[in-house]
Amino acid sequence: MIETSPLDVLWRRVFELAQRGRFSTSPNPRVGAVLVDANGTVIGEGAHERAGGPHAEAIALAAAGARAKGATLLVNLEPCSHFGRTSPCTEALLAAGVSRVVCSIEDPDPRTAGRGVRRLKERGVDVLVGAFADEAETLNEAFLKAIRARRPFVHLKWAASLDGRTATRSGDSKWITGEAAREDALRLREECDAILVGALTILADDPLLTRRLALSSAITPHRRLVLDGALRVPATARVFSAAGGEVWLVTAVPSGDPRLAPFLERGVQVFSRPAAGGGVDLGALLGALHALEVRSVLVEGGGVTAASFLKAGLVDRVTAYVAPLLVGGADARSPLGGEGADRLGDACRLAGLDAVRIGDDLRLSARILPDFVVG
Ligand SMILES: NC(=O)c1ccc[n+]([C@@H]2O[C@H](COP(=O)([O-])OP(=O)(O)OC[C@H]3O[C@@H](n4cnc5c(N)ncnc54)[C@H](OP(=O)(O)O)[C@@H]3O)[C@@H](O)[C@H]2O)c1
Repeated sequence: MIETSPLDVLWRRVFELAQRGRFSTSPNPRVGAVLVDANGTVIGEGAHERAGGPHAEAIALAAAGARAKGATLLVNLEPCSHFGRTSPCTEALLAAGVSRVVCSIEDPDPRTAGRGVRRLKERGVDVLVGAFADEAETLNEAFLKAIRARRPFVHLKWAASLDGRTATRSGDSKWITGEAAREDALRLREECDAILVGALTILADDPLLTRRLALSSAITPHRRLVLDGALRVPATARVFSAAGGEVWLVTAVPSGDPRLAPFLERGVQVFSRPAAGGGVDLGALLGALHALEVRSVLVEGGGVTAASFLKAGLVDRVTAYVAPLLVGGADARSPLGGEGADRLGDACRLAGLDAVRIGDDLRLSARILPDFVVG
């Protein structure tokens, strides 16, 4: 039997609170905070649920009131020390007389980046950084990647048969997985700030790419992106007229090209940035999205598109829903197109595999190691 210490229980609560922001905090991080008194009794807790709304620490302090004097704060991210949409948490903690702060990781936001910890220490608060750091990194992987790399976190997602096919040889792909797995994938869509698919997926499936579960209440608009270097998709595709957020056509066709007019007439945002070697400059696309505070992009296929992000070294996580189904056929689509690895030593090995059964299907998710480079 695994022993659970009272401290583990408190930290589990911190992470539970932080998860409340899963669909709503972007572009801010998910943060949970628990205040305990000298006896280890919880005297206040809080969650940051929405950018612009109060921070977790401020809510916990308000709940504790005068009892916060001499208390210990447990929080999964360094308290902020800057005036942003709200005032600095460090000053609120000092004013309340909190004597100890235990946080999982430093906040890489250049406006804080260790300043919160320093400020508290300077004023005599006992500060410890590093508790449950791995969990804290995973919890906020999109936010942390975006701030550190100055580009959104890129999450590849697909549904495949047990023999690794994402569509039949004729392109039929509806539906490979069952209802529960599809709903889980829709939750992933709500969690990400933007969703992107390639041109051939639009031509094959004519998807809407909208959010269906009404879970997200983030302040940034949901962005639906179609990657179409050579401009193959018609402006009449359903994605360009479906309501909900912004729709982008991402292309290598120059911005003044008359073929873009029907898209512009529909209110589609055209992002035109040819890459030197052909296709679209995906790094420039992610840079533009970062400037709009887009923290995460869900790439929902197909295989050619997924491979081009992987080849550019721009993928952070892969989630595959795998169904007990055999499609077969050498010409049936696979989740990753492109040339692929020549030798197994060059293949992309992932870390931190998480496997969950959902209905009759499996969800497998793992992250790409940061130093992985496609040969
Ligand atoms: N089971 C699943 O999870 C799933 C998900 C999605 C799709 N699918 C299936 O997969 C099939 C389509 O996939 P696919 O691999 O054939 O095609 P795809 O990835 O959907 O689209 C490929 C196109 O995307 C554009 N593109 C990709 N990378 C680009 C880059 N770096 N720069 C510019 N343009 C780029 C290109 O358009 P241009 O040629 O115009 O340059 C390319 O031809 C369909 O049958 C669909 O049903 C299955």
